[in-house]
Amino acid sequence: MTDKNPFIITGYNGPELFCDRKRETETLISNTHNGVSTTLVSIRRMGKSGLIWHTIHQLAKKQDHICIYSDIYGTRNLKDFTNKLGSAILQALPAKKTLSTKFIDFLKGLRPVFSFDVLTGQPQLSFNFSTTQEYEQSIDSLLKFLDSQKKRVLLAIDEFQQISTYPEKNIEALLRSRIQTLNNVNMIFSGSSRHLLSEMFSNANRPFFASTQFLYLKEIELNTYQEFINRIFSERGFKITQDSLDYILDFSRAHTFYTQSVCNRLYAAGIKKITLDLARAACMRLLEEQEPVFFQFRNLLTAGQWTILQAIAREGKVYQPTSRCFMEKHGIGTPSNMQRGLESLLAKEMIYRENDGNGAYYSVYDVFLSRWLENQDYV
Ligand SMILES: Nc1ncnc2c1ncn2[C@@H]1O[C@H](COP(=O)(O)OP(=O)(O)OP(=O)(O)O)[C@@H](O)[C@H]1O
Ligand SMILES: [Mg+2]
Repeated sequence: MTDKNPFIITGYNGPELFCDRKRETETLISNTHNGVSTTLVSIRRMGKSGLIWHTIHQLAKKQDHICIYSDIYGTRNLKDFTNKLGSAILQALPAKKTLSTKFIDFLKGLRPVFSFDVLTGQPQLSFNFSTTQEYEQSIDSLLKFLDSQKKRVLLAIDEFQQISTYPEKNIEALLRSRIQTLNNVNMIFSGSSRHLLSEMFSNANRPFFASTQFLYLKEIELNTYQEFINRIFSERGFKITQDSLDYILDFSRAHTFYTQSVCNRLYAAGIKKITLDLARAACMRLLEEQEPVFFQFRNLLTAGQWTILQAIAREGKVYQPTSRCFMEKHGIGTPSNMQRGLESLLAKEMIYRENDGNGAYYSVYDVFLSRWLENQDYV
């Protein structure tokens, strides 16, 4: 067994270190086999990208698909999108095999510049056209290239909501019209802006209407996550008590990234018997380390917004933020102040709005910030 920390907090490291998501993986694989495209949505850091990689890993075993993953976070326009798409295809094709040679031959017509990413060393493409039409045509050609392959293709576009920020008009319509004509390519559109993605994919006036199946990613089921954490620790000679497991999942709200972070920290500490005290101390330490960032957030918000954020953190979930009871309890002025505050906190991604069995509620996005705020006095 290697020394590498088994609780991953970036990327994907194979099925052994990946907890559950069986049903979701089956859905994605079954959709891929049945020609159904999927829109994968969740709040941030819940595990969408991990799930896509896990699915790609499963599909790769059978070798009957070409799987392409393109993360378009940070793209600002159609040019960036085209570059990312071309690079993702290049990276998915095994070097020195006939298919890559064919792709490189095909690319010659589009005259891209080849380079290597400084950080990852991955090959990259960059196109330099002068008109939007040329980019549109290149996207069309890239997709047609994929459509003409013998193997079926899965193309996952992560952070898809990004396209709604491009300055070029009708990108949704353009992509829809191109993607619609493909017979050999299945899509996964993934992103964290539920509002934007639902708008794009379920509003009858929008081009992507009714074209995909929705998959909402929730927290991993508590027992399953506990068993996973317990297994990973025991296999490496650690013992973790049941009350520690309960505490970790409660503290991190079973929000994947935060749960992984706490476990990562406990593993790194190297103390083989994990007790409740140790788990608590690790969590407190994580909060302390983040304090400078939390203070930065406070500087970026108005006093009113900060109070609302803190009030939401104290409650955990807030179903009726404009109720008199909630506002009086936390000393927040009028419902219109509250409404404005909520809107700007949502826009800044400091809070999110989700639904559970009891209706729609607001929570603080960053679980560690939320836990930290709970213990701070009102300013
Ligand atoms: N099922 C899982 N088991 C173990 N670790 C996971 C699992 N899913 C995700 N992770 C880890 O949790 C972290 C967050 O997951 P991921 O980046 O996939 O979330 P995301 O929903 O794509 O977030 P964002 O919206 O910010 O892109 C990652 O570091 C990933 O390694
Ligand atoms: Mg992601």
